[in-house]
Amino acid sequence: MKLKINGKQHQLDVDPAMPLLWALRDEVGLTGSKFGCGMGLCGACTVHVDGQPVRSCVTPVGGLAKARITTIEGVAGKVALALRAAWVQHQVAQCGYCQSGQLMSAQALLQATPAPTDAQIDDAMSGNICRCATYARIRAAIHSAAAALKGKA
Ligand code: FES
Ligand code: FES
Repeated sequence: MKLKINGKQHQLDVDPAMPLLWALRDEVGLTGSKFGCGMGLCGACTVHVDGQPVRSCVTPVGGLAKARITTIEGVAGKVALALRAAWVQHQVAQCGYCQSGQLMSAQALLQATPAPTDAQIDDAMSGNICRCATYARIRAAIHSAAAALKGKA
């Protein structure tokens, strides 16, 4: 089957039931999306499908032939740049394991809601677990990125 990942078509010879995370990491070699729980509970594997955050560990590739898949390796544009700068500014990452998933959820949040409140941030990020408990810095970085994007508008 064909999958469009980060703007590029990939021809994969895989079972349609294979979770997208397996295809990304083992077949395509994109290892930025992480395996955490494997049950849709932790958010470490978050990627975008047609711009929406999804848990790739519980999303079979079979339904994605027409989808636009974006991973942390392919996310681009001014929102992504603002988030990356804010993540560095706030020194968000600790061990880093959850952070690509965190950034994918934050990216989707700011694209839909350019100036989120604390409650909107907590709501959008609630499915991304961080065992290092970087939540306060994540929230501060999202506010910083939103402010930087507003300043440039
Ligand atoms: S690994 Fe997919 S949600 Fe935890
Ligand atoms: S930074 Fe370690 S799990 Fe989030």
